[in-house]
Amino acid sequence: MELLTLNNGLQIPALGFGTYKSELDAIITAIEEGCSYFDTASYYGNECDIALALELSHIEREKVFIASKLWKSDMGYDNTMKAFSRTLENLRCDYVDVYMIHWPRPNLVLQEWEALCVETWRAMEELHSQGKIHALGISNFLPYHAEIIMKNCRVIPSVAQFEFHPGHLQAFALEYYRRKGIQVQAWSPMGRGRVLNDELILELAGKYHVTPAQVCLRFCVQEGVMPLPKASSRERIRENLACMDFVIDERDMSRIENMPPLGWSGEHPDRERVKI
Ligand SMILES: NC(=O)c1ccc[n+]([C@@H]2O[C@H](COP(=O)([O-])OP(=O)(O)OC[C@H]3O[C@@H](n4cnc5c(N)ncnc54)[C@H](OP(=O)(O)O)[C@@H]3O)[C@@H](O)[C@H]2O)c1
Repeated sequence: MELLTLNNGLQIPALGFGTYKSELDAIITAIEEGCSYFDTASYYGNECDIALALELSHIEREKVFIASKLWKSDMGYDNTMKAFSRTLENLRCDYVDVYMIHWPRPNLVLQEWEALCVETWRAMEELHSQGKIHALGISNFLPYHAEIIMKNCRVIPSVAQFEFHPGHLQAFALEYYRRKGIQVQAWSPMGRGRVLNDELILELAGKYHVTPAQVCLRFCVQEGVMPLPKASSRERIRENLACMDFVIDERDMSRIENMPPLGWSGEHPDRERVKI
């Protein structure tokens, strides 16, 4: 698997495996098929399953990368320390590769969310300096949220995760993180399936003799964005990994970049969930 080098020197695979709502069997299958980067979160309630999947697969901890996220209600210095300990207990290991703040605001009413982010980050920096977190990250941070961290941190984020797929690129955020040298990760890289029937994606799947899912994932990879597809069956897991085996030409990349908006999850860091 191709590797990406983060701004702190850590190398991670160019494609990960999303585990939101994943069953234990799917995680085991993903390990068997060669996935080595697992994106989880305390909120997903499946950190224990990841530990169990590694144990049942007889795979050493150092052979895989695990990313987890701090939930909204656990923000703040002391809470972060406690939540991180629980994550380590669940994962049955003594470090995580990447640890992120899941959302910048704990809720939409708290005015002091900026101070809370800074305090949370301070705790994460401490855990990082103790070697318990190998790279720090932010998830669902728009550039103006990220600036709060950038202006107040000792350790800058290595990873930024947000919703990204054909028809929903959040180009302003992508550009910002590229300029800062922060690796972008795509959540919902296939738009939870809604992108797969788009006429351009179908046309390109035909042209390159691949599947619509592979077009979406390959598009992310060529944008320098690390996709985190979630899949349940062995066939789909294999199919998704095989997106590394072809290349979309420049003209078609540009056509995808400029296609009309194609819907999104409705989840926004500064709004109630938008009904779509
Ligand atoms: N940071 C955040 O706030 C945040 C938010 C959302 C998600 N995430 C992360 O991003 C990961 C992926 O996002 P997501 O699950 O929302 O969306 P996604 O990966 O775009 O879509 C997953 C859906 O696509 C289906 N699928 C997978 N491979 C396929 C293929 N080759 N052909 C056709 N359909 C396929 C899956 O079905 P089956 O499972 O039935 O195979 C599932 O229904 C999550 O698991 C999580 O790790 C992070």
